[in-house]
Amino acid sequence: MAERNSGDIDDLLRETRRFPPSPAIRAQAHVRDEAIYEDAARDPQAFWARMAAELEWSRPWDAILDWQPPHAKWFVGGRLNASVNCLDRHLRGARRNKAAIVWEGEPGDRRTLTYFDLYREVSAFANVLKALGVRKGDRVAIYLPLVPELAVAMLACARIGAVHNVVFGGFSAESLRDRINDSTCRLLVTADGGYRRGHVVPLKQVADEAVAGAPSIEHVIVVQRIGAAAPVAMSPGRDRWYHELMADAPGACAPEPMDAEDMLYILYTSGTTGKPKGIVHTTGGYLVGTSATTKLVFDLRDEDVYWCTADIGWVTGHSYVVYGPLANGATCVMYEGAPDWPAKDRFWSIIERHGVTILYTAPTAIRAFMRWGAEWPARHDLSTLRLLGSVGEPINPEAWMWYHHHIGGDRCPVLDTWWQTETGAIMIAPLPGVTTLKPGSATRPFPGISAEIRNQRGDAVQVGGGLLALTRPWPSMLRGIYGDPDRFLRQYWSTWGPGVYVTGDGAKRDADGDFWLLGRVDDVINVAGHRLGTMEVESALVDHAGVAEAAVVGKAHEIKGQAIAAFVTLKEGIGMTPALADALKEHVVRKIGAIARPDDILFTADLPKTRSGKIMRRLLRDIAEGKALGDTTTLADPAVVARLKANYEEEYG
Ligand code: PRX
Repeated sequence: MAERNSGDIDDLLRETRRFPPSPAIRAQAHVRDEAIYEDAARDPQAFWARMAAELEWSRPWDAILDWQPPHAKWFVGGRLNASVNCLDRHLRGARRNKAAIVWEGEPGDRRTLTYFDLYREVSAFANVLKALGVRKGDRVAIYLPLVPELAVAMLACARIGAVHNVVFGGFSAESLRDRINDSTCRLLVTADGGYRRGHVVPLKQVADEAVAGAPSIEHVIVVQRIGAAAPVAMSPGRDRWYHELMADAPGACAPEPMDAEDMLYILYTSGTTGKPKGIVHTTGGYLVGTSATTKLVFDLRDEDVYWCTADIGWVTGHSYVVYGPLANGATCVMYEGAPDWPAKDRFWSIIERHGVTILYTAPTAIRAFMRWGAEWPARHDLSTLRLLGSVGEPINPEAWMWYHHHIGGDRCPVLDTWWQTETGAIMIAPLPGVTTLKPGSATRPFPGISAEIRNQRGDAVQVGGGLLALTRPWPSMLRGIYGDPDRFLRQYWSTWGPGVYVTGDGAKRDADGDFWLLGRVDDVINVAGHRLGTMEVESALVDHAGVAEAAVVGKAHEIKGQAIAAFVTLKEGIGMTPALADALKEHVVRKIGAIARPDDILFTADLPKTRSGKIMRRLLRDIAEGKALGDTTTLADPAVVARLKANYEEEYG
């Protein structure tokens, strides 16, 4: 669904200020001129090989790329280990004693792990996993709050060649169970709880419920985050405490040499059906993509204190909290909790306390900060910041300008970065020493990436709007959907032939060649930067005993970008009560997680359908957003939609 339209962008462009790179930024940047784009365009494979050469390989590759559309193999025959690249190779020089992770818990507790500390912890946990029978290729589920052990568990899997499947700690038992079962995980790592706005999130309890329906799980390792305040039940033989296992685990573990194409992880993300897809990423290409983009987009230097605020449960955390920055030897800040806890200046106090230089966050957070007011950041010294990033949703120019003005000031470029779980790494973003910035535009494809706007016929549009396509393979691209090769082909590679990747996003290209992202064009919605499928929410609603049919749409929301509106028809004899609407919202939360809670539920006797019985979501969106109704001529019964609109306005207008 387009969150803004092409006409808006034409207006914007006329008014938009442009921000060329400042002399200070340019003087120090890794990349200072256009040549990198030209070189990469001339020979993309050679460009990626140069990026790959910055990593440590135990066996060099024989060929850079084997492309049998849509199947790519990158760095064919090469061997490497992701944990070695994130840890061991930094131990040989001054980075050995540098902070790798600077962590703050929500209650204010703090921990710092140097690269050497992290190396020891990861190696020890790798030994723990091995002792519990985890072998190369086995899948390990991870369901943790944002604690250092989350990064440790991922890197320990990578060290022994196990495949991690991280599930965001906000997902329900059922969502966790489905993700474990789809990839038949042998082991689950969880915690006795996590903190969120002062409350304990009972992760172990949820995990127990999930594991009850997940027969492949042999062991559950439990990190003690809360302790006595939240006692948990431990199932004898199955459940083990992390700290007890670690107490006698050796702190050295030989890394498994992995083929570049060996699986590194699976991460589930929502698609256009009710069932999330297990996106598969492999070792070599993924690490090349994430490390190169971290270095060049954030212009990373050794003295930086880098903070990506994403939860590691999403791809942003995988690529830009863990693999990209650690592969670059960066000092990474991690924060467990909410931005408004204990007060609305938590982010700014963290930046001041740790001297953060690079901040990478989401437009939803920025819009919340705008709402809370500039007096909160003004209480803190933010002068260490030198670069700001944005990710996850289209950033509206007002939010961009606020971020620039109140947080970064003139010295900080604001970099909007477009990418997806499937792309693994940043695809469209400025390079701070080169690119002229425009508020609201992600600007241009990263060197080596080829993006196009295509119209419905598949023709490339030079200037104007259409669908965003990626027309060349790239190292960190997904290699498949776990266990579902047909869906992989159908979903991503069938619209314009097997060599062209369909992103699912609408975009527009301006006369300078810059890209403006418009939002999803399929049945995927983006609520506060969290990706959800309308069909998933519909399935959760229909699962309730009282519901006959449901249609879910994303509607524009001032802070969250989009919010969920659900239109529900009930079974015979069920009353349309406010209590039932609340019960349905809770039902969705129980089925999927709190991120999927609908904002609005409207009961209706009928849904607007075409004569062939297809629900017209476009009209439902118009209704939810209070817009004039679009074309209704294809409806079986146009009166349905008029009634619905009147009812909705009465309820929520
Ligand atoms: O619609 C785009 C939006 O988020 C989708 C990808 O979601 P996910 O796989 O969860 O990954 C989020 C973090 C990379 C995209 O299809 N999106 C992401 N970044 C941007 C964006 N939309 C506009 N501008 C962005 N910078």
